[in-house]
Amino acid sequence: MTDASPSSADTTPTGQNKPRQDGKLRAIAIDGPVASGKGTIGRRLAQQLGFSYLDTGSLYRGLGAIALEQGLDLDDEDALTDLARTTSPEAFQRDDLRKEAVGEAASIVAAMAKVRGALADLQRRFAEQPPQGKGGVVLDGRDIGTVILPDAALKLFVTANEEARAKRRFLELQKRGDSATYARVLSDLQARDERDRSRTTAPLKPADDAILLDTSEMDAEQAFERAFDLASQTFGA
Ligand code: DC
Repeated sequence: MTDASPSSADTTPTGQNKPRQDGKLRAIAIDGPVASGKGTIGRRLAQQLGFSYLDTGSLYRGLGAIALEQGLDLDDEDALTDLARTTSPEAFQRDDLRKEAVGEAASIVAAMAKVRGALADLQRRFAEQPPQGKGGVVLDGRDIGTVILPDAALKLFVTANEEARAKRRFLELQKRGDSATYARVLSDLQARDERDRSRTTAPLKPADDAILLDTSEMDAEQAFERAFDLASQTFGA
């Protein structure tokens, strides 16, 4: 895969090249519920294609973590929005993003429209000007194909049934030495699915033009290969 050639890139009024191909953004938008395997697929696709990768959940988690650290009121949408606007993208990447309390804070801030607006700007800038001059981007999250990058060249909606996802998450936690039971993992996952799907701002749902990738009966390798085939057809890799 090569970077966008000058002939395939549109030019903005400021003269900067945007990573576009046939009018579409050279981007892969991956959405899906928790533990669907979208993160692993996204990371590997980016590596294979030489694209930049952004796990957008880490922005909500990073914001939640910083808010907790600063003792901000998690109901204060204006203060959280200011924090989202003034924090440098690097500062969202922290070691404590996977902590339970941080995940909880992330899901509270992620439901706020103004916070989402502030983080949307950051995500779009990343896609319009991929870091290190890369030729495209992969973003994964909940609303990438529907809200953040509606003109992405490829949209995937990665999913799997509840049991398959709960089993994966349970095994992952066991490996880390966590004592959570399968029943608890399943009920947490159902609660998070419900919250992500039912919120009014940017709920989790496939874009009309997204390709559905159900990984219930696939292992990680099979899921990646299917996604890579679709990316190759789109970008000619
Ligand atoms: O994917 P994750 O578990 O790291 O996401 C953390 C939280 O952020 C979760 O509550 C869903 C939310 N999120 C979101 O609302 N929109 C995104 N694009 C990514 C994550």
